[in-house]
Amino acid sequence: MAAEPQHYDREAEDLGNIVMLEHVNLQVPDQSLASAFYISGLGLTRDPYMNTGLANMWVNVGKSQFHLPAGEPWVLRGAIGLVTPDRDALLKRLDDVRKPLAGTRFAVAETHDGAAVTCPWGNRFNLHEPDEARFGAISLGMPYLEFAVPVDTADGIARFYRAMFGAQTWMNDADAGKTAYVGVGHKQALRFRESDGPLAAYDGHHIQVYVQNFSGPYRELLRRELVTEESNAYQYRFEHIVEVDTNETLFELEHEIRSMTHPLYARPLVNRNPMQSQQSYRMGDDDWVWETRRLNPRLPGVPPIDTPRAQALKARRAARAARGM
Ligand SMILES: [Fe+2]
Repeated sequence: MAAEPQHYDREAEDLGNIVMLEHVNLQVPDQSLASAFYISGLGLTRDPYMNTGLANMWVNVGKSQFHLPAGEPWVLRGAIGLVTPDRDALLKRLDDVRKPLAGTRFAVAETHDGAAVTCPWGNRFNLHEPDEARFGAISLGMPYLEFAVPVDTADGIARFYRAMFGAQTWMNDADAGKTAYVGVGHKQALRFRESDGPLAAYDGHHIQVYVQNFSGPYRELLRRELVTEESNAYQYRFEHIVEVDTNETLFELEHEIRSMTHPLYARPLVNRNPMQSQQSYRMGDDDWVWETRRLNPRLPGVPPIDTPRAQALKARRAARAARGM
């Protein structure tokens, strides 16, 4: 059989076994400051249905979330990558919360495609304008989490996610610091960037991902005595990313691993349009649609498929059309 011409880049739509990065869990010591930062400043949306009290708040960003329980501040050892629409409106909102966040670690620096922002307790956020090639067809979302990891661990970290989870991984040596990328969803990645700077002690924050093959990674983690919590039928946790050959710890980061049968999988999240105001209100414009229309281009210069079966199908379609069906 002759090789068929390629009409689309089919590999671009492949996912590894980790199919979605959903939430990052960071304790916050003051919910009113957290509201000023995440809701008023970043323009995100407090989940109206779940954890609506003072002990925790869920904050929606496209199809991902922050979980912000009350407690001593937790700081992710790296940066959280977000896509948000309208850079000027974002910078204006961030400027507006300078006063309520005065005296905290809140800081804003403009970047070429958005802003580098520090939360009141030191978590770093890279805010990017939408870019389909880099982040997928979204105007709001969480395309990556970046972690600073010790020198000589990136290769081992990639091996761990590949061998234990069946994740897609790739390396980038051209970045500032060798970086292991781990696919955790469509155009979503964890980035582990080697750094020779000091590494803060791990404080207990966690991330959550969904996996298709749920029991395979579990069995392997269990065999290595790495499972740290049997949460429920749809979820377990582990914390140590290890060298596959030796089981030696490379990096600590608690992972909440959920099956795709988890009741919360693909839960529709409420996202608001932060541009709405009493001064410039538009009826019907309260909701924000986080997905943008995909360009969906065919690869250029490829002739239509021309196998006998494709021809037969074409003839059948034409006959049906001729009968007005
Ligand atoms: Fe969680």
